[in-house]
Amino acid sequence: MAKPKVFVTRIVPEKGLSLVRDFCEADIWQDEMPPSRADLLARVRDVDGLLSLLTDKIDAELMDAAPRLKVISNMAVGVDNVDVAAATARRIPVGNTPGVLTDATADHAFALMLSAARRIVEGEKYVRAGKWITWHPQLLLGADFAGATLGIIGFGRIGQAVAKRAQGFDLHVIYHDPSARPAYGATPTDLGTLLRESDFISLHVPLTEQTRHMINAETLRKMKPNAILVNTARGPVVDSQALYIALKSKQIFAAALDVTEPEPLPVDSPLLELDNCLIVPHLGSASRQTRDEMSFLAAQNLIAGLKGERLPNCVNPQLYD
Ligand code: GLV
Repeated sequence: MAKPKVFVTRIVPEKGLSLVRDFCEADIWQDEMPPSRADLLARVRDVDGLLSLLTDKIDAELMDAAPRLKVISNMAVGVDNVDVAAATARRIPVGNTPGVLTDATADHAFALMLSAARRIVEGEKYVRAGKWITWHPQLLLGADFAGATLGIIGFGRIGQAVAKRAQGFDLHVIYHDPSARPAYGATPTDLGTLLRESDFISLHVPLTEQTRHMINAETLRKMKPNAILVNTARGPVVDSQALYIALKSKQIFAAALDVTEPEPLPVDSPLLELDNCLIVPHLGSASRQTRDEMSFLAAQNLIAGLKGERLPNCVNPQLYD
């Protein structure tokens, strides 16, 4: 019997790719850059399955260009790049890769929080610039963790894993997420209280119309002057222009961003002029083991969809009701 045809939009780790190759006739995009819109539309024309990444826009137009499409498997936990409602309307299951990236992303949020608090990147630049001429009692002073308050916005798997780590640092943890139960000693609160009381604020919400620009001029104004904002969620959760103004005017102490608006961040972005803004290129889940597991889970979702079985991780499970 002929193998099902699939398009894989980049070279993902071999652990997932070999599973895809075993079961499918796979067209794998070889470039470092993602396929252009025209390439994407052309390559999905006669496929049964699609393994996509967060850099690919998977919308109704694309689904209509792929009349045989039976499954969309996104190698990410976030699915804001996929029009899930359009997929559901076409009875196409959409898979994602939660769980396997929880620890890596929480570790990364913590790394960013520590780096911003203790000014690691500024210190490194200082040494390389040849400015380290003596130990000085006032040099690059940062913030303490013990006894400080960490506010977590979005208390799902990753937010909770951040709270778990925070216990070891003696942070007092509060969170805002109306749908989540308390865990790891964290106390629920409303958003206004969290913004006013937190020394560190870490974002762990998905990008939706409700969370787009939830950190804006107004919410930034409520934060403490020593606040450090960490974003490992999605760039557009933060209004970057408002953040620039708040950081430049020292309304808040610092930000550490794994994700930006837009992405990649243009090299002439004013945020890059600021010493109190640390930016890395969307590396939340970027550990070898985690990416292996993400590719494997994405391959399992893809193959289940091709077989007409329930996806191990499906974001529109109402299709199975
Ligand atoms: C990464 O950002 C993901 O959503 O997995």
